[in-house]
Amino acid sequence: MDMLTFVTEAMTPRDAYRLLVSSVVPRPIGWASTIGADGSVNLAPFSFFNAVGGPIPFVMISVSRRAGAIKDTLRNVQEVAEMVLNVVDEDLVQQMNITSGDWAYGDSEFERAGLAASPSVDVRPPRVTAAPVAMEVRVTQIVPVEETSYTMIIGRVVRFHVRRDLLRADGSIDPQRLRPVARLSGDEYARLGEVFTLPRPA
Ligand SMILES: Cc1cc2nc3c(=O)[nH]c(=O)nc-3n(C[C@H](O)[C@H](O)[C@H](O)COP(=O)(O)O)c2cc1C
Repeated sequence: MDMLTFVTEAMTPRDAYRLLVSSVVPRPIGWASTIGADGSVNLAPFSFFNAVGGPIPFVMISVSRRAGAIKDTLRNVQEVAEMVLNVVDEDLVQQMNITSGDWAYGDSEFERAGLAASPSVDVRPPRVTAAPVAMEVRVTQIVPVEETSYTMIIGRVVRFHVRRDLLRADGSIDPQRLRPVARLSGDEYARLGEVFTLPRPA
C-alpha cells in the first residue's frame, strides 16, 4: 500500500485536527440540553460524544473553548451538573444545525430552532420532544483534556426516553427505524448505511 505519514507535531494544529475528525468517522451526535443556575436553557450538538462505560450506562461529550471563552454547555453543567443527550435523526438535522449557532447566553436554541421542549423527570434540563431517544444524565466528572482546549463532561444515564416503535423485543433500538445522523468532518454528515450481522467467534 502506498501510505503517507504525518507527524502531528510537524503539522499545523488545524491540519492535524482535520485528519483526526475525518479519520474518526462516522461520529454519533449528542444533542445536549443543559440549564444554568439562572434557568437559562441551552441546546447544542456535540460529535465528540460516546458511550464510555457500563453496565451502568455512562456517556461523555467533549466541549471546546470558543475563542478562549467557555461554551454555554460547559458553563451550565458547572452550575447545574445535569444534561439531556438527545439523539438526532434525519428529521431533526436542520434544527440540530441551527442550534450549533453562536447564540448569546440565555438565548434559547429551542426557540431559535422552533423546537418543543418536554420536561425531564430526574434532571432539570428539558429534552427535545421530537428526539427519538433522549437520555437524562447526571454529570459525575468534568475533566479537562490536558494540552487541549477541550473539557470532557462525563455522566451517568439515569433515564432513557425511547419512542415506542423503536424498541425491539430484545430491548435494543432498531437502527433502521432510528435513522440516526452522524457527523463526518467539515459540513459533511452521513446516514446509516447497510446493516449486516457478524457473529462473534466462539
Ligand atoms: C454536528 C456538530 C457537532 C459538533 N460537535 C462539537 C463537539 O464535539 N465539541 C464542541 O465543542 N463543539 C461541537 N460543535 C459546535 C457546537 O455545537 C457549538 O459551538 C455550539 O454553539 C455549542 O456552544 P454553546 O454550548 O455555547 O451553545 C458541533 C457542531 C455541530 C453542528
